[in-house]
Amino acid sequence: MVHGDTNHQNPGYVGYVAPIRELNIPALTLNDGPQGFRTSSNYAGTTTCFPSGMTVGATWNRTAAYLWGKAMGEEFVSKGSNVQLGPGVNVARIPKNGRNFEYISGEDPYLGSQMVVPAVKGIQDTGVIANVKHFINNNQETQRQGVNEVMDIRTHMELYAPVFEAAVVDGGVASLMCSYNRLTLQRAEYNQTQWACENVQSMTNELRHMWKFQGWVMSDWGATHGTQLDAMAGLDQEMPGGRFYSDALQKAVQNGDVPMATLDAMAVHILTPMFQFGMMDDPSKFTNGSLDTNATSDAHNAVVREIASNAMVLVKNNGVLPLDTKTKFIVVGDAGQISPKFGGKGSGSVVPAYVVTGLEGLSKRSGSDAQYFKTSDSDAAVNAAKNVDAVVYFVGVLSGEGNDRTTLSLSGPDLSLISELAKVNKNVIVVTGNPGAILLPFSDDVAAILVTFLPGQELGNSVADVIYGDVNPSAKLPVTFPNKDNEQGFTDEQWPGVDGKATYSEGMFVGYRWYDKNNVTPKYEFGFGLSYTTFDVKSCASNRTMEYSCEVTNTGKVAGAEVLQLYLGFPDDGFEPLKVLKGFEKVFLQPGETQTVKYELTKRDVSIFDDSMEDWRQPSGEFSVHIGTSSRKINWSNKFTHVGLTKSLTSQKTQE
Ligand code: BGC
Repeated sequence: MVHGDTNHQNPGYVGYVAPIRELNIPALTLNDGPQGFRTSSNYAGTTTCFPSGMTVGATWNRTAAYLWGKAMGEEFVSKGSNVQLGPGVNVARIPKNGRNFEYISGEDPYLGSQMVVPAVKGIQDTGVIANVKHFINNNQETQRQGVNEVMDIRTHMELYAPVFEAAVVDGGVASLMCSYNRLTLQRAEYNQTQWACENVQSMTNELRHMWKFQGWVMSDWGATHGTQLDAMAGLDQEMPGGRFYSDALQKAVQNGDVPMATLDAMAVHILTPMFQFGMMDDPSKFTNGSLDTNATSDAHNAVVREIASNAMVLVKNNGVLPLDTKTKFIVVGDAGQISPKFGGKGSGSVVPAYVVTGLEGLSKRSGSDAQYFKTSDSDAAVNAAKNVDAVVYFVGVLSGEGNDRTTLSLSGPDLSLISELAKVNKNVIVVTGNPGAILLPFSDDVAAILVTFLPGQELGNSVADVIYGDVNPSAKLPVTFPNKDNEQGFTDEQWPGVDGKATYSEGMFVGYRWYDKNNVTPKYEFGFGLSYTTFDVKSCASNRTMEYSCEVTNTGKVAGAEVLQLYLGFPDDGFEPLKVLKGFEKVFLQPGETQTVKYELTKRDVSIFDDSMEDWRQPSGEFSVHIGTSSRKINWSNKFTHVGLTKSLTSQKTQE
């Protein structure tokens, strides 16, 4: 039970823990991944490619995250898999991280914490055990199997740990996956370097003591590095095989290197959720499913389409959108038909039964077959563009496990064709498929830009929903879109690291926190996204200390949703970003309708992690509150003075 079985028994799942028939303990059948059930072409059964984690993050809609988790969980049940290896939650430190697309957090731990909880509940409400990954600080793919991520404990606790904490404490997630990397946590008095799967701080102090985690930690595939150290640090299960946890663990227990009580605890951590999820009562729920089952359904296709259209961020619109069905247009770009960008690569990938391309979706919705040009048909596309009302250009890039992107740029031929088309047609609408931030150098030249992230198999239908105004866009960027590659100026020491060490000397200042600190205007900021209607934010007030409210009115002509965001600025305690996200509400409003949005800050919201206390501490001083429709469009600001604990003597000493 404490290790996987890679031998003859595995019926085709990416991970398999053999049953113990004498004890009526069923098998664990684990499968990727965070974008739906990953299957290989060896099996006949169909599976749905859902929107990726970051795409769901862009909805800023907790209900969407729940529906996403639930629909994926249902497919795992059909496939006979009782552990879903997802959702992925790592906070995007490096815009080029090849796996950012899998992660629901975008660049913010508060956004991630709010979204992961319903996602986990959705999966687990189907009886499938969710697996939150990759624990922890697995923030780059370059040298992912060995890199040592070096950071102070405060950065670790405030920026990278909270989403895992929320998944455990508020989401009740039953399993986690420890990651490939090493981790050096720096404290005032000492530094500690350990593999993530041998990490006492994260797996014992944080998970067990601080967050009271009752479930189990499994290693990423091949991320176990030893027997005694791993077992003593809190690794419950080695995956995918038993190199360290089979005979070696048995020997270690027999000779006293690993106490029997530790092995017992490992088993209890695995068995507790299995009992809790009813797996002992009714194993047939999963044994009835198989990889050959068709897991797909009309209902799931509809979930994909709805979440995706609600996750597309309209970052530019000069009024061309929404299109009228009478508008004559052409579709251009490889991503529009021959290589649609619907899902990521690696273990987060899903091979769906079908993909609706951009060309297909738009043709269907407009009721006429649009003319299509590949990127290489540039001359013909430019000629045709002269005779139509609009051009819809699909462009994109993919990334995946094992590599970071080398650039945030889109391909050269696409960029030059977009710019040629913009010269002959004033209504060029660019639709991007993207695994995270990308560069949009053509933003001034084109009429509209719709950022779709990786929207899943209904790509073309969801794009048509937004382009024709059947769905009013309401998504917001979960990551900053920069003006250029490496705008934040990461040095080689920071990323990808020197001599195997990636040093987080930037502390908390990544993403919008860096742009705020350095007063740099990004191309499009975190939290930004347009709508086809307009909103008015007014009557913001503080009703009681740490309680805020604002009225939001839809002042336009169509129904729509606004995400009102609350950012908090801390008193100076040596480290603070100008402001950090601490609240958001998405309100759906009919034209003319007004709703009051309320926020209540918690003690934890106004706390920092104090390394000398090894605990959260509320600092004393002046806090600032900013409420707005993006991290840079602030409608209202206020201040309050909070009496907390001043910096302890130990940490003052460190500052000197
Ligand atoms: C990935 C995990 C995945 C596992 C099993 C690893 O390489 O990092 O995310 O769940 O493989 O496929």
